[in-house]
Amino acid sequence: MAISTQELKTLSKGFDDKPQRSFSLPAKAYVQPGYMEIERETIFYQSWQYVCHIEKLKNPGDYIAFNIQERPLIALRDREGNLQAFYNVCRHRGHELLSGQGNVKTIVCPYHAWCYDLKGQLFSARHSESMEEFEMSDFSLMPVQIETFCHMVFVNLDPNADSLAVQSGDLAQEIESYAPDIAELTHATRLTYTIKANWKSVVDNFLECYHCSVAHKDFVSLVDMDNYTVTTHGIYSSHIAPAGKNENSAYSVEDASVQDHAVWWLWPNTCLLRYPGAPNWMVWRFIPIDAETTYEEFDFFFEQDTPIPAQQEAIEYIDTVLQKEDIDIVESVQRGMKTPAYEQGRFVCDINGSGESEHAVHHFHSLYLKAMDRLINA
Ligand code: FES
Ligand SMILES: [Fe+2]
Repeated sequence: MAISTQELKTLSKGFDDKPQRSFSLPAKAYVQPGYMEIERETIFYQSWQYVCHIEKLKNPGDYIAFNIQERPLIALRDREGNLQAFYNVCRHRGHELLSGQGNVKTIVCPYHAWCYDLKGQLFSARHSESMEEFEMSDFSLMPVQIETFCHMVFVNLDPNADSLAVQSGDLAQEIESYAPDIAELTHATRLTYTIKANWKSVVDNFLECYHCSVAHKDFVSLVDMDNYTVTTHGIYSSHIAPAGKNENSAYSVEDASVQDHAVWWLWPNTCLLRYPGAPNWMVWRFIPIDAETTYEEFDFFFEQDTPIPAQQEAIEYIDTVLQKEDIDIVESVQRGMKTPAYEQGRFVCDINGSGESEHAVHHFHSLYLKAMDRLINA
């Protein structure tokens, strides 16, 4: 069902710039497939999306193929050492060019073997001599914006988008101060989940720790909840807390080089995390499959490509305790939102910006409504 502009305007009903006065987004935006279609265009095709740690594209010819909301793409490093990104779509008949990841000298289409160089320029098209008015230079791969940000690779399908460095203000500096060693860390493991909930419910839940003392009894002893601060800035929010004083093997900080729990959410669906313990970095993404299904990818980077026992324990804790608790929550929320008993809620906010507050959820909803406004006013 297509959503009309009139209908889109109703999304901001009850929303107020002041979180204490504001209503949250209406349930229909979480359950109706039409909104997901609009979000693809206005949010996912216009925002910076994480691709990989820079280690994956270290050498000339290194490439990775991936998708953003059903658009196949490739990121690679060219011969001159520059990063490039293109639609992974051949200009002859539209076949996908590369799959998985690896290293190539040129890009050869598996369908009729048109060949492109690592800058996306077509240099060979079999038997094309007989064609009239055919210039290979008219058939380059369609480029996509690509950027290295804090040793991670991001792309943006909007050719007019400002760079991530510009859009994200002080985020790189903040990350650098808590995690100066991302370049030296390597991918160790990935957890994945398919959740029966809208991606926005998963983000909402990630952005507040108002639920932590109720739903994550263990977690609240791992971090110092009294000094947990949540601040919102432009297109991201920062969620910082010192490690808790309690002894807990899953989060052991005795003699650890990392003492803080530092987490960032980056509009719209990327979370970056640094936990207390040995040097670590985590990238967690909430990828919509459809209006009521979200695929989560949770990548862990450590000093070595196999987790040490303490890290393995932390991963198991996240997987079997924290994630289970959160998935049960968001799936329950999704079921509730589909009933006539829920239309929209409110934000419970601590004016001091502690973790026990939902002001970062309000910030996310304000960015969401801004994206919808751009569409309404386009
Ligand atoms: S579709 Fe790629 S060569 Fe024909
Ligand atoms: Fe949670």
